[in-house]
Amino acid sequence: MCGIVGYVGHRQALEVVLAGLHRLEYRGYDSAGVAVLDGPGGLAVERKAGRLANLETRLDEVGRDRLAGTAGMGHTRWATHGPPVDRNAHPHRDAVGGLAVVHNGIIENFARLRAELEADGVEMASDTDTETVAHLTARAYQEGETAGDLPACVRAVCRRLEGAFTLVFCHADEPDQVVAARRSSPLVVGVGDGETFLASDVAAFIEHTRDAVELGQDQVVVITREGYQVTDFHGQPVETAPFRVNWDLSAAEKGGHDYFMLKEIQEQPAAVESTLRGHFAGGRIVLDEQRLADQDLRDVDKVFVVACGTAYHSGLVAKYAIEHWTRLPVECELASEFRYRDPVLDRDTLVVAISQSGETADTLEAVRHAREQKARVLAICNTNGAQIPRESDAVLYTHAGPEIGVAATKTFLAQIVANYLVGLALAQARGTKYPDEVAREFHELEAMPAAVQHTLGTVPQVRALGRELADSKAVLFLGRHVGFPVALEGALKLKELAYMHAEGFAAGELKHGPIALIEDGLPVVIVMPSPKGRAVLHSKLLSNINEIQARGARTIVIAEEGDGTVKPFADHLIEVPAVPTLMQPLVSSVPLQVLAAEIARCRGYDVDKPRNLAKSVTVE
Ligand code: F6R
Repeated sequence: MCGIVGYVGHRQALEVVLAGLHRLEYRGYDSAGVAVLDGPGGLAVERKAGRLANLETRLDEVGRDRLAGTAGMGHTRWATHGPPVDRNAHPHRDAVGGLAVVHNGIIENFARLRAELEADGVEMASDTDTETVAHLTARAYQEGETAGDLPACVRAVCRRLEGAFTLVFCHADEPDQVVAARRSSPLVVGVGDGETFLASDVAAFIEHTRDAVELGQDQVVVITREGYQVTDFHGQPVETAPFRVNWDLSAAEKGGHDYFMLKEIQEQPAAVESTLRGHFAGGRIVLDEQRLADQDLRDVDKVFVVACGTAYHSGLVAKYAIEHWTRLPVECELASEFRYRDPVLDRDTLVVAISQSGETADTLEAVRHAREQKARVLAICNTNGAQIPRESDAVLYTHAGPEIGVAATKTFLAQIVANYLVGLALAQARGTKYPDEVAREFHELEAMPAAVQHTLGTVPQVRALGRELADSKAVLFLGRHVGFPVALEGALKLKELAYMHAEGFAAGELKHGPIALIEDGLPVVIVMPSPKGRAVLHSKLLSNINEIQARGARTIVIAEEGDGTVKPFADHLIEVPAVPTLMQPLVSSVPLQVLAAEIARCRGYDVDKPRNLAKSVTVE
């Protein structure tokens, strides 16, 4: 949510910052802006509502050489305070325009700070919480004990701020440095040769360096051409943890695909394979990063899964597997609801917090609540060193690689696999599965990259179907057992990408109300279980299809290859490979992702950047 880039080096900062913003635009695209320092007293700012392309047009109009200089910063916004108009676009400046700041997050006490400034006669030029920080910092720079010391001013102001924020500052009188602060929102330093970068995500500087440093909670960093210095909010130097990014620029590019989402759908076999890699050795599940001993896992008497959106759907899938393998009760809960309903937690509760970004505020707050209640928290995350794994007792990383399309695809499959690894580790430690059974389940997971690859063979057929359905008003999705969360996920994808009314239902619930929605020609997608695995579920779903077909629905059936019984009920049949029941979501989700993307494309929407959304949601 909001992308931030900072740079001090030997190149033109404007071009470095714009290239970085392009890679971060998935974080927000309501407006964009840049600030460039050009020698003493020179601070040029341009900003524009709408996509980054609007800012670039503006820069061409004013002349890019107006923003020459080798230090600067940029921002791409997901609006929180104030509508997405020019005046609310970042950077924000103080009254005389000597200081500029960009911000990701929310300053929760901004109303009080704003009132204080207004009482002192400061006139606000925007509706944002960020602008208060610009005025407070500029003031601290002019007077008092922090005068003339930008890092000291930033620290002093940050001590007064409540909420979650990443802030980056440029000051006209400090042309060789950019200063940033971090609390609960992401910020990474990139270390190059004679140049230093700052960004919300390493993708912004990966083309220049893979050497990075993750900033900790409540830290301030000063970057210069020579490097970086990090302190806490009181000015004490702190140890940092440098790391090397294990993917390169090609992972953050479309690689010949029309859009990132299609590329990421194609990358799913690799995402599943990488997430499994190294987690089975010596006949045992090995979760080396998890930092939970077998005894901890044996003590667990209840599991909560907390997550949002697609990650939540992966948790719903996991509930079936974990309960089946471990005989432990598993509650799957929307993170945004979790801490407000006083869940029963104690030190024998394992809370599995699933988050692709590791930044989602709802999930982070759920983690904090669980830890306050003494529960053990295991994070499943795709982003190294993100806040959620940092605040959890243990972490299991999904290795799906960067996901740029706003709609989650490959990380969904990777999350299901990681959840299953947790389930198997619990079963192994608790002895609810014999070692050979655990090994068999793992080997079934190992067969999944090939099965997903095989499923990708349906892409042309599903795209053609998408073109046929592009004018539909609504689509329903039905499933049973693990097919139910798949139906929910299919509906979510269609809503968020194609802005189409879509609902997922447990097929058995249909007759309790939703069947009233069925009318002539309404497309209904049915996720069939295997006729061999759960025969009883299969026959029940066949009856459900019968019921809706009789009422005029157009049935689109996702079924196992060779399932002859379903053919008479399918107006459109999409065949996926036969896999064990618990593995079915890994194949049956794939056509639903493609369907949503294609319908969105046909309707003329930006598949990678759906309206009103952003990739990581750092506000509650
Ligand atoms: C949907 C989607 C969102 C995210 C949700 C959680 O395609 O991407 O529903 O799944 O916002 O995000 P993370 O996993 O980053 O916590």
